[in-house]
Amino acid sequence: MSRKPLIAGNWKMNNTKTETIKFLDSFLPKAKGLSVDIVICPPFTNLFAAAEKLEGTDVKLGAQNMHWEDKGAFTGEVSPVMLKEIPCDYVIIGHSERRQYFAETDETVNKKIKSALQHDLLPIVCVGESLDQREEGITMSWIMSQVENALKDIPSQELEKIVFAYEPIWAIGTGKTASASDAQEVISAIRKKIAELYCSDTAEKVRILYGGSVKPENIKELMQEADIDGALVGGASLKPDSFYALCTFNL
Ligand code: 13P
Repeated sequence: MSRKPLIAGNWKMNNTKTETIKFLDSFLPKAKGLSVDIVICPPFTNLFAAAEKLEGTDVKLGAQNMHWEDKGAFTGEVSPVMLKEIPCDYVIIGHSERRQYFAETDETVNKKIKSALQHDLLPIVCVGESLDQREEGITMSWIMSQVENALKDIPSQELEKIVFAYEPIWAIGTGKTASASDAQEVISAIRKKIAELYCSDTAEKVRILYGGSVKPENIKELMQEADIDGALVGGASLKPDSFYALCTFNL
């Protein structure tokens, strides 16, 4: 079964509205007719301006986070209804920076995934281990429990809409990429876990990305692995030239 590659740029807290427009003015004319799915995830404040620029193009828009409730007294939060109206297509859920600095848990991640699906937003669900966990040898059990908890009570017909991103925390923004074979090992284990929780047909359809210091120089090697379906990119997604180079890894 062939899964279409997906390259997603997670801009984190980078690029103002003016910089976002400038990025898209440079990137979009080049990004026509590519054979990969492309998503950019700018900060909330730039989503509307980005959506206007992306209208009529194949590049999709994603948010970096959301609350699971539709509305209410949650100062500082943004709801799925608001994202859908922009319109956003994707939403990143459970990024390790959200888990680490903003106290997100497997339970809130699961609530957010369910809410995103209910609102027809495609979740990009992040999992990953810390350096300590890798050195302790508990990477696999940790990731498998993150996956299982994320998917709690989610029916199989929804699975195809979910994208997973395996992002080892020690590889994020450090310049240290997991080797392609280490990334493949964890990602194929995630796919096996999904097959065990649902069935192998479903597992074969789910796209699983790698994230952590992905650059134009190392994306080809990662993408040669059987189970790696794309990349969730931070630093190298911020400039149109390097993001374009990532989106054309297969040309
Ligand atoms: P870097 O590509 O900057 O390492 O960030 C990865 C990441 O966290 C994407 O979500």
